[in-house]
Amino acid sequence: MLDVVDIEANYHGSVHALSGVSVRLAAGQIVALLGPNGAGKTTLLKTISGLLPLEDGRIKAGTVHFEGCAVLGWPAHRVARAGLIYVHEGRNIFTTLTVEENLSAATYALTGRPEAARKPDFDPVYALFPELAERRDQKAGYLSGGEAQMLSIGRALMAAPKVILLDEPSLGLAPKMVTHIFSLIARINQETGVAVLVADQNAFATLAISDYGYVLEQGRIVLDGAPDKLLTDENVQAAYLGGI
Ligand SMILES: Nc1ncnc2c1ncn2[C@@H]1O[C@H](COP(=O)(O)OP(=O)(O)O)[C@@H](O)[C@H]1O
Ligand SMILES: [Mg+2]
Repeated sequence: MLDVVDIEANYHGSVHALSGVSVRLAAGQIVALLGPNGAGKTTLLKTISGLLPLEDGRIKAGTVHFEGCAVLGWPAHRVARAGLIYVHEGRNIFTTLTVEENLSAATYALTGRPEAARKPDFDPVYALFPELAERRDQKAGYLSGGEAQMLSIGRALMAAPKVILLDEPSLGLAPKMVTHIFSLIARINQETGVAVLVADQNAFATLAISDYGYVLEQGRIVLDGAPDKLLTDENVQAAYLGGI
């Protein structure tokens, strides 16, 4: 469904960020993109979603095919409207708007369909995240970290995506909330069939819901495989799992 081959990318023409990175995501899968801070996870997700040029990033080589279409070079809104939705690291929500206004804004911005924006259907998002239903009229700036992450994912769901590119969903969350958010991601995948490429530093929680995983270090894929294989790999254990 999503086939990323041999990506080379840099910033400002000099800072080298990705070297020969290839990643695949099949329909209905959850795939983990693991690696330490600065490894290039966000750069890869922004490359796929068309956002890299907006940060003075350059893609020097490689291809990205989504459902058979070569999408590399498309502007970000066109990629989003094709069904590939990026969920920002650090939750890109409008803090001065209410929860529901945030969801409304996403329908038109991400789909480009005015009819979807005129009559947004919030029910699927509220069914998944009852916390958001309770706070629908509150300003998003007052949400807890976990609720803000739910809203960020909820905004993506308003666009009825085919693929979600999820950047560091566990960032800054308490361990219990991390478990909760990851179980919700698994549930969304099972219930809607949306495929998910999830970048996170929390290898254990991410692999627990994934079908496959890649480990990125200094802009290169150093290891990939099924979760069982990665969880038992000595290097992965030492680097990301605290030796468990
Ligand atoms: N906007 C930017 N301008 C210049 N360099 C950047 C920018 N964003 C990221 N980088 C650099 O690119 C590399 C990869 O960063 P990033 O993709 O954010 O890693 P990760 O998401 O895995 O933490 C790092 O060396 C980082 O400093
Ligand atoms: Mg990142």
